[in-house]
Amino acid sequence: MKFRKIQEGKINFYVPKGRIYDAPVFFNPEAELTRDISISAIQVFQKQFKNKITICDALAGTGIRGLRYAKEITGIKKVILNDKNPKAVKLIKKNIRENKLSRKCISSKEDANILLRKNVFVVIDLDPFGSPNIFMDSAARSIYHKGFLCVTATDQSALAGTYPESCLRKYGIKSIKTEFYNELGVRILISFIILNLARYDRAFIPLLSFSTKHYYRVFGRVEHAGKIANLLKDFGYVNYCPKCLERKIGNIEKIDSKKHVFENCGLIYLGKILNKKFCKKVLADIRKRDFRLKKDEEKLLKMLIEEAEMPAFYYDLHSLAKKLKTNIPKTEVLIKKLKKRGFKASRTHFCSTAVKTDAGYKKFCKLT
Ligand SMILES: C[S@@+](CC[C@H](N)C(=O)[O-])C[C@H]1O[C@@H](n2cnc3c(N)ncnc32)[C@H](O)[C@@H]1O
Ligand SMILES: [Zn+2]
Repeated sequence: MKFRKIQEGKINFYVPKGRIYDAPVFFNPEAELTRDISISAIQVFQKQFKNKITICDALAGTGIRGLRYAKEITGIKKVILNDKNPKAVKLIKKNIRENKLSRKCISSKEDANILLRKNVFVVIDLDPFGSPNIFMDSAARSIYHKGFLCVTATDQSALAGTYPESCLRKYGIKSIKTEFYNELGVRILISFIILNLARYDRAFIPLLSFSTKHYYRVFGRVEHAGKIANLLKDFGYVNYCPKCLERKIGNIEKIDSKKHVFENCGLIYLGKILNKKFCKKVLADIRKRDFRLKKDEEKLLKMLIEEAEMPAFYYDLHSLAKKLKTNIPKTEVLIKKLKKRGFKASRTHFCSTAVKTDAGYKKFCKLT
């Protein structure tokens, strides 16, 4: 394998030469933003945990993620960098040596499911190709009862409604096509995590969730079984009419009239996917660091804080304008108008031309 040496954060490391998808070991430089945000999110968790933590980077690739955790987060006991690909593990070992991190980092060459089944970890990071679905049961068993779980999914086409059957097969929930597809995708992923952990009497409390062009990323704290009932109360249906874009959330709607044809998606988690306090702490942590992408990360976190307490789902003004055949005002103008009428309203990171609001569909359409 031919290498080239690069730097990300405080780590200098080797990656395979050549194109990403043909490389013998996977490395995607575009995931720097999620690695940075993960460092800050785990750091915030570690401070609340008040003890040293052990992190399992279960699908480590070159090891960059786990190495950065070991070097850039304080309060780390050990980081396990695991990959089942022998070439990846060879490279992980080389990168551990290169960064003199042998005291904190342990390489491992197991199937992630086996490694997780044999151990308990305070923090587990699942960063797979595509769906994390096949690792979730093992992660649910392995996670410490007051732990912290970080999950990536890159199979956005399944989660966000392009391939509903694929979503049903992988996550047990059939997705639908909507204009708020990115939030629907993230919520289906969160629902899947909650239900997997609930099976082992653990409550998964989502704290920070976002979507980018290439992946969804979710962070959450594990709490005792007593909290599960509250999470399950927030499960319900999304009923969506593709004819007029009306959506009803909660119980299943069977209305099938000339006016509406509701498509149903559920049961999914409709509660909070962002914890404002936690997001503020993550933003404060990012501000203290010298991440290369700091400006973009601050912008994203500010937006997440703005939308943290808004209701589920959003109206995409472009889609609405097309359907209603009207000219819709600019996002900012509409938000001001909604707020003036006493409604909650905000932008959303999920879509730059969308508005989140607690004004119902009819009132919202009247104001546009
Ligand atoms: C998307 S890459 C990880 C990228 C890495 N986390 C990063 O931030 O650069 C997924 C990795 O999972 C590994 N993998 C796939 N299935 C696995 C399994 N069952 N057990 C352990 N590793 C696995 C692959 O070899 C690959 O290196
Ligand atoms: Zn309709």
